[in-house]
Amino acid sequence: MCGIVGYTGPREAYPIIIKGLKRLEYRGYDSTGVALQNGGLKVYKKKGKVAELEDAIVGKDLHAHVGIGHTRWATHGEPSDRNAHPHQSASGKLAMIHNGIIENYNQLKQELINKGYTFHSDTDTEVLLNFIEEIRNNNQCDLEEAVRVALKRVTGAYVILLLDEDKPDTIIAARKGSPLVIGVGKGEHFLGSDASPMLEYTKEVVYVNDYELAIITPDQLILKNLGNEKITPYVQKLDLELAAIEKGGYDHFMLKEIFEQPQTIYDCLRGRLDAEAGTITMSGIQQYAEQIMNANRIVMIACGTSWHAGLVAEYIFEELCRINVEVEYASEFRYRNPVISKGDVIIAISQSGETADTLVAIENAKSKGAIILGVVNVVGSSIARTSHAGAYTHAGPEIGVASTKAFTAQLAVLTMIALKIGYIKGSISQDRYMHLLKELNEVPEKVAWTLKHSDNIKKLAEKYKDAHDFLYLGRGYNFPVALEGALKLKEISYIHAEGYPAAEMKHGPIALVDENLPVVFVATKDTYHEKVVSNMQEIKARKGKVISVITEGDELSASLSNDVMIVPEADEIVAPMLSVVPLQLLAYYIGVAKQLDVDKPRNLAKSVTVE
Ligand code: AGP
Repeated sequence: MCGIVGYTGPREAYPIIIKGLKRLEYRGYDSTGVALQNGGLKVYKKKGKVAELEDAIVGKDLHAHVGIGHTRWATHGEPSDRNAHPHQSASGKLAMIHNGIIENYNQLKQELINKGYTFHSDTDTEVLLNFIEEIRNNNQCDLEEAVRVALKRVTGAYVILLLDEDKPDTIIAARKGSPLVIGVGKGEHFLGSDASPMLEYTKEVVYVNDYELAIITPDQLILKNLGNEKITPYVQKLDLELAAIEKGGYDHFMLKEIFEQPQTIYDCLRGRLDAEAGTITMSGIQQYAEQIMNANRIVMIACGTSWHAGLVAEYIFEELCRINVEVEYASEFRYRNPVISKGDVIIAISQSGETADTLVAIENAKSKGAIILGVVNVVGSSIARTSHAGAYTHAGPEIGVASTKAFTAQLAVLTMIALKIGYIKGSISQDRYMHLLKELNEVPEKVAWTLKHSDNIKKLAEKYKDAHDFLYLGRGYNFPVALEGALKLKEISYIHAEGYPAAEMKHGPIALVDENLPVVFVATKDTYHEKVVSNMQEIKARKGKVISVITEGDELSASLSNDVMIVPEADEIVAPMLSVVPLQLLAYYIGVAKQLDVDKPRNLAKSVTVE
């Protein structure tokens, strides 16, 4: 996710753009830049937040009535000055900003290199921009036509804003798969990833649709499809307030990010998983496949929610790859004197990529000869850069302190790695491999189904919000999900909650059970289901309140539960990406029912960069 802003009209463009970018920083903050039409194109850009760019260009000639601005969430190319947007074309006459991923950029880049183009960044954006310029020069057509022709060749998602030095009052924009809003003023137009940059100037907006292209001057907004047919812009009156827009209309970032999961899991799989062809493309993993297959052991190192993802991965890797897996709290691993041998493979799991304990733990392991693979969300973060290789989770910025979409994206990546290695190693059959690829491919729509059937969870939150303790129980792949559900509740509602292997209850904790104790079972239909049902009966017999996450149609578990949360049928290996979703919502709605700050819980930080 990146933030884009544009303006053309009689006002000074720069102040509008820079303020708009600040409002869009929730969409990404790796680097920022602006391009201004000021007697020729002026481009200012740098790594870091908007305020850092602002400070760096104080005193420059920023006068302009037309400009575009960008705040980046890195996907291709680390956060750096050279990879910051806007990018300029080879001629220097075009400047462009982009939000999205051009999936076939490598092929386009090769075509351009063969024609003598050179590149100054690692981004897919610079490739698309030069592809557009090449088409315009080659076909002697206007820029609008060149954009249309280029976008027909492109696969992936994009919003682009384009400035042409030879047409200083015009902005060309196009979108597919990423959001673009155009604000309609009197003799002026605004553009943004959402309406927040324009809200104080106009509430008349046009939401651009996929495969549409806009040619915008101060007095004119022309909308066309890629077939060059004009479209009448549908102007709507906005009734959202600024705060609501940043959250996409949700009350909190946490809820927005929970509901983003169908898209973020899809984004994580996109370009990697091809369930039809039976392939998983992960170049970072491919280059270390041999070492992973022959590893003495795989050690998952992480903290918090990421540690829970590692626990799920332990079950998956041992099942599919038949390799010994250990899961370590980074903070414990780094301070004891662990035995690390050259053949060890470490998988470091981290949303922020900056967790101090995880970073130091892998630095220690790396110094002792272990191979470090990173499963990280923030591109170019310290853990990503310390790793030998890895795979990004592409979940976009996670603003809520409680990790939700990053967790399910971590599970998606870890499952793909295990499937890839198991397939290469031959430790899973072709049939099971193809079945699991199909199951993984269906997860985004099954998460969407789960979210659609979650209306009752708000009522459950009201019913149980005053409990002082919760138990979360699960077995097998759902045991780490029980731990994760307990952590979500603790950190969002401040209610004490413990996750346990369901079978462990009889070794002591069942003494806690009485009519005041809600016990949440993660009880989706899997290998362990029959045993979990008898654990439910044990709790019922002691008057505990049973709240269960169950598979749709599981009447037996429903009959033993006081309340249920439903997920669709799925293979147990991918089930944690579904069964965690109701638990995320339960924690969120209980926190809201208790009127707590669910996006910024007390005592917590989004990234624990201290020891
Ligand atoms: C999870 O909701 C918490 N915010 C916390 O446990 C977090 O998972 C942990 O601090 C690890 O962070 P990381 O994934 O950025 O390394």
